[in-house]
Amino acid sequence: MSGVSLKNIVKKYDAVEVIHNIDLDIKEGEFCVFVGPSGCGKSTLLRMIAGLEETTSGQMSIGGRDVTKADPAERGIAMVFQTYALYPHMTVEENMGFGLKMNKVPKDVIAQKVGEASRILKLDDYLKRKPKALSGGQRQRVAIGRAIVRGPEVFLFDEPLSNLDAELRVEMRVEIARLHNEIGATMIYVTHDQVEAMTLADKIVVLRAGNIEQVGSPLHLYDDPDNKFVAGFIGSPGMNFLEGVVQGQGVRVPALADRIIETAVGLPAQGTAVTVGVRPQTMMLESGTGPLKIDIAEELGGVSYIYLNAPTGERLVVEARGKSMARSGSSANVQFAPEDALFFDAKSEKRLR
Ligand SMILES: Nc1ncnc2c1ncn2[C@@H]1O[C@H](COP(=O)(O)OP(=O)(O)OP(=O)(O)O)[C@@H](O)[C@H]1O
Ligand SMILES: [Mg+2]
Repeated sequence: MSGVSLKNIVKKYDAVEVIHNIDLDIKEGEFCVFVGPSGCGKSTLLRMIAGLEETTSGQMSIGGRDVTKADPAERGIAMVFQTYALYPHMTVEENMGFGLKMNKVPKDVIAQKVGEASRILKLDDYLKRKPKALSGGQRQRVAIGRAIVRGPEVFLFDEPLSNLDAELRVEMRVEIARLHNEIGATMIYVTHDQVEAMTLADKIVVLRAGNIEQVGSPLHLYDDPDNKFVAGFIGSPGMNFLEGVVQGQGVRVPALADRIIETAVGLPAQGTAVTVGVRPQTMMLESGTGPLKIDIAEELGGVSYIYLNAPTGERLVVEARGKSMARSGSSANVQFAPEDALFFDAKSEKRLR
């Protein structure tokens, strides 16, 4: 088991730089998730750690060894991809043991390692089957088994669950968390699904356009985001953002009939534009009167999401427990504690603290 350290990592494809000067330390045994929108560089960074993409400049070490220029096979890593390309003519156990067989590992050692992986992944009943006789989730488990038998220091996962249906994804998410608890290896996991990131990670790395926006534990990023991007990306439904203007000791919000939200954070000069962020979970809906109009109410059973339109054209969502009683088209207002509001510089989008 080993930590991973990245220093000033840059990736260029010809003249185009897609990863800009990334510094990151992942501790031994940590579950680290790279999250961010499509095209932000998650897979590129992971493939660079795997040695599948050359690193343009910077330094990379695994377990204290400099691996910047090392071959993938010398890095002590194993990677699980989104498409799990199993050999169709081989059984589950042959698929899992194939890499070891190619490396001339003795048969009894292969059998022991495949047996161990199969126990962890609950594949014992399927060892003699071919991949076509397996469900998507079982196939993905075989692909993970192939990685486990190699005994890597670091596991790398690139969106391993995105080909599965929603139910299986939840099931496999729990399996992967259990796998990490059981074998304790360092894991780096790429996803654009913030729920996967929140539930699996010890540490989340939020990427945007080849830069790290913020690094922290799931709850740290949720409670204390450094900027509007992270605030909006972490949490579901996403944080509500409303335009505001500094006035007196607070921020005036036109969407809420010029309500002034008082705050102790360091605000810019009077009249400056500021963005106010409030999570749907901390807002309370009052229906009947108010400046807002209820658009749609989504009833999910245990919770409901109520979408609202403001006279300014801005949109809001409120999360309510149980049935909402909200009627499309009726007037409404929202209440929240001023200390639950976050403030962001309208231009730089940085958090005001
Ligand atoms: N071989 C390549 N040549 C040129 N540009 C590339 C190449 N591979 C990736 N890129 C660019 O690098 C950027 C990052 O791509 P990457 O695949 O890492 O994104 P991602 O975060 O994994 O996105 P997704 O969520 O869609 O998988 C993108 O702008 C992409 O177009
Ligand atoms: Mg990708």
